[in-house]
Amino acid sequence: MSELRLQDKRAVVTGGASGIGLATASVFSRHGAHVVIVDIDENAGQAAAEAIRAAGGKAEFLPADITDVDQVSAVVSSAATALGRIDVWMNNAGKSLTEDLLDIEPDQWQSDLNLNLTSHYLCTRAVLPMMIRAGGGSVINTSSVNGLWAIGEFGYSAAKAALISFTKNVAVTYGCHGIRANVICPGTIDTERGGAYWDAKAGSKEKLLKWYPLGRLGRPEDVASMALYLASDESSFVTGATMVIDGGLTAGSQLFGTL
Ligand SMILES: NC(=O)c1ccc[n+]([C@@H]2O[C@H](COP(=O)([O-])OP(=O)(O)OC[C@H]3O[C@@H](n4cnc5c(N)ncnc54)[C@H](O)[C@@H]3O)[C@@H](O)[C@H]2O)c1
Repeated sequence: MSELRLQDKRAVVTGGASGIGLATASVFSRHGAHVVIVDIDENAGQAAAEAIRAAGGKAEFLPADITDVDQVSAVVSSAATALGRIDVWMNNAGKSLTEDLLDIEPDQWQSDLNLNLTSHYLCTRAVLPMMIRAGGGSVINTSSVNGLWAIGEFGYSAAKAALISFTKNVAVTYGCHGIRANVICPGTIDTERGGAYWDAKAGSKEKLLKWYPLGRLGRPEDVASMALYLASDESSFVTGATMVIDGGLTAGSQLFGTL
C-alpha cells in the first residue's frame, strides 16, 4: 500500500477551517491530495490553507456560505478550476442551532435544516455532474450519532438522520457512474466548539465520559482517519455505508448495568 493514500487526488472539504474539517483537510494533504477548504470564516480559512502550505502541502481557501445556492454554484466551479477536477467532496460544515422542540420557532427550525441538511444537498447536486463526467468520485457526508438515536437537539438531529437516507440514495442512484457516497456519524469529538458545547450539555466532562465505553472523547483525527479511508481507493467497494465513529457510545452503555 502506498504511503501517500491520496496521491494525485483533488479534494474539497467544507467547514475545513476548524475542528474535524481542518483535521481532515490536513490529513488529506499529508497523504498527497491537493485540497480546497471551503468555509464561511475567511480569516480561519485563509490561516488553515496557509498552515497546510507551510507544512509542504497543496491547499487553497475559497470563502462561501454553503447554505446559499448561488454561493455553492460559484464555489464548486471555482474549486474545479483551482483543482482541475474534483475526486473527493467532503460535506462537513454544520452545527446544532436548536434545542428543545417547544422552544424552536419555524425560522430557527428551517435554519437548522438549511445548514445541516440542505447544504449537503446543494453541494452534492453541484458537484455530481462533474464527477459523472469524470467517471467517478467520492462524496463523504457528515452526520452524527444524533442521526441514530434520540438525544435532543430536534432540528439538528432530524437533519443528521435525513443525511443518512440522502447518502444512501446518492450511492444507489449514482453508483453506476463510479460515484461512491458514504456518511460518517461521529460521537462527541473534542473540537474547540464541539467539546465545550458538549461539556456544557452533560454538566461535566467526567459525566460525559461515562457515556463512552472507551472512556474518552473522540479527536478530530479519529474522524479524519475515516474520511481518509473513504476518500482513498482502499474503500473502492464501500458505498452507501454509515460509518459510526463514537467510541462505542451507540453500541450501548455500561450504565444500563447499574439500573
Ligand atoms: N464536534 C462534535 O462533537 C461533532 C459530533 C458529531 C458530528 N459533528 C459534525 O461534524 C461537523 C464538524 O463539526 P466540528 O465540531 O468540527 O465543528 P466546528 O464548528 O469546529 O467547524 C465547523 C466549520 O464549519 C464552518 N461553517 C459553519 N457554517 C458554515 C456555512 N454556512 N458555510 C460554510 N462554512 C460554515 C465554520 O466556520 C467552521 O469552520 C459538523 O457537521 C458537526 O455537526 C461534530
